[in-house]
Amino acid sequence: MVSVPILEMKNINKSFSSVKVLNDVQLSIQPGEVHALMGENGAGKSTLMNILMGVHSADSGEIYLDGAKIVNSNPKEAMAKGISMIHQELNPVLDMDVSENIFLGREIKKGTSGILSIVNKKQMRHETQKLFDAVGIDIQPSALMRDLSVAQSQLVEIIKAISISARIIIMDEPTSAITEKEVDILFEQIRKLRESGVAIIYISHKMEEIFSIADSITVLRDGQFVSSDNASNLNKDKLIKLMVGRELTEIFPKTEAEIGEVVMEVNNYSFKPKVRNVNFNLRRGEILGIAGLVGAGRSELVEALFGVHKSAEGSLFINGQDVKIRQTGDAIKNKIALITEDRKQTGLNLIASIEDNITIVSLDKLFPRGVINRHKEDEVVDKSIVKFGVKAASKKNKVQSLSGGNQQKVVIAKWLLTDPQIIIMDEPTRGIDVGAKRDIYLLIGELVKAGKSVLMISSEIQEVMGVADRILVMAEGRITGELERKDFSQEKIMHYASQFNRGKEDEETE
Ligand SMILES: Nc1ncnc2c1ncn2[C@@H]1O[C@H](COP(=O)(O)OP(=O)(O)OP(=O)(O)O)[C@@H](O)[C@H]1O
Ligand SMILES: [Mg+2]
Repeated sequence: MVSVPILEMKNINKSFSSVKVLNDVQLSIQPGEVHALMGENGAGKSTLMNILMGVHSADSGEIYLDGAKIVNSNPKEAMAKGISMIHQELNPVLDMDVSENIFLGREIKKGTSGILSIVNKKQMRHETQKLFDAVGIDIQPSALMRDLSVAQSQLVEIIKAISISARIIIMDEPTSAITEKEVDILFEQIRKLRESGVAIIYISHKMEEIFSIADSITVLRDGQFVSSDNASNLNKDKLIKLMVGRELTEIFPKTEAEIGEVVMEVNNYSFKPKVRNVNFNLRRGEILGIAGLVGAGRSELVEALFGVHKSAEGSLFINGQDVKIRQTGDAIKNKIALITEDRKQTGLNLIASIEDNITIVSLDKLFPRGVINRHKEDEVVDKSIVKFGVKAASKKNKVQSLSGGNQQKVVIAKWLLTDPQIIIMDEPTRGIDVGAKRDIYLLIGELVKAGKSVLMISSEIQEVMGVADRILVMAEGRITGELERKDFSQEKIMHYASQFNRGKEDEETE
C-alpha cells in the first residue's frame, strides 16, 4: 500500500559556480521507512540533503511535505517543520560541553521567561545523562566537546538528532567513525523511530548496514537520479552496478608483496592512560592491521609514534637505529607518514586550496633551496589528483568545497607525496565509496610491493581481514592479541577486542 509520501523532492537542480552537481533529481520518502540514499563520492547526496535542510538553496525544483509545498531558507526553518539532520562533517562548537551541545537552540531555562531567565546547566546535564542511560552510552554530559574523540562526537550528534522530536531524520554517514557496538545502539534507535512513523534518510558507504536497515534505496550517480527501489529487490552486486555504472569484482584485491626485515621496532610504548606498554615490529613490505573497539587506544598509539604527544614514553628503532621522536617533524624526517582519522582537525586546512594542501608537507623536499617553482608544483599536483582520483572542478578550489570522500583522497595524496617508508593509516577509507575503497586497497598493495610498510588502523573487520598480512588487536590501551593471516577470523578479533582485564596494580602505577 502506498500512502502519501511524507516527503517529495522534485526536479532539483543545483550548480556551484557553473558546475552542475544535481540535475533534475527526485526523491520520494514514505512515513515510517528507512530510505537509503546511495552513490559514489561526489554524487550529490549531501548536497541534496543540505538543500532539504535549507543549508543550500536549489537553483530550481520543489519540495513537498505531506503533499504541501514547502521552502526552507535555513536549518532552523527545516527543524521547525520536523526535519533534522546528522551532518557528515561534524561541526560541534568545541567550547561547549556535551549537554549544551545536545540542547543547543532549545536550552532548558530557569527563572522567569525573557531576559531574566538563565540556562539551567544542571538540569540539562541531568536530562542528557538520562538520554545516554536510556541507550547505554558512556559519555560525561559535562565533558567538553573538544575533548571527545570523533566517535564520541558522532554519538553525541546521533543522540541530539533523535532527541529532537523530528518526523524526518537525515543521517549522513552516521556510522563512519563508530564501531559495531555503537552501530547496534543506533540501529535499535532507528527501528524504534521507524515504528513510531518517523522517516529516516540514511546515507552510508557501508553495504552491510544498508541491507540490514534500509527498506528502500535511491541511487544517484554524478548528480543524476538513477533508480529508486525496495531494498528486497536489490543485492550488493546490483547496487554497486547502479552506483558505479559497472561491475566490480573482488572488493578486497590482495597484492602479494615480499615481506622482509624489521623496519620499525616499538618497545614498551606508553601514553598513559590510553596506551600501555605496547610492543611490536613492522616489516618491510608488510601490511600490519590494528583492530579494536572505539576507545581501545589505537589512534593514541599511532599519534604517540608520530610525535603528537609530548608525554609518550618508550623506545623506537627505525631500520635498527634508536630514534627519538619528540615532535611530528622528527617523524617526517624518519620517513614516517600518518594519515589521520580526523581530517578536519589534523589532516587538512579546509580553507586552503587542494593544491596547497597536497604540497604543504613536501615543499622542503620538492624545493630544497626554498624557492617554489609553480610550474613544477602544478605538475606534481596534477599527477596526484589523477593518481588518487580526486574529483574537483579545479585544484585551486578550497578543500572544503569537496565531497567528504574526496577530502579523504586529498589527505592520502598529501602524505604519500612525502615519499614515506612507513605509512600509518588511521581509518583510511572512512567515508569512501566502494570503487574508491578498492582503489585505495590497490594503492596500499602497490606501496608494499615497492618495499614500503603499512600500519593500518581499521574498525571495519572485513576490511582489515581483507587487506592485512597480520593483525594486532588492542583493548584498553594494550595489545591483547596477534593474528597471522591464515588464522584471521571475525570471532577471534572480537574475542581479543573485548578483553577488558585492567588489573588493579595497574591503576596504582598511574
Ligand atoms: N559548497 C560547495 N562549493 C562548491 N562545490 C561543492 C560544494 N558542496 C559540494 N560541492 C560539489 O558538489 C558535488 C557533490 O558533492 P556532495 O558533497 O553532495 O557529494 P556526496 O554524494 O555527499 O559525496 P560523499 O560520499 O563523498 O560524501 C561534488 O563535486 C562537490 O565537490
Ligand atoms: Mg556526502
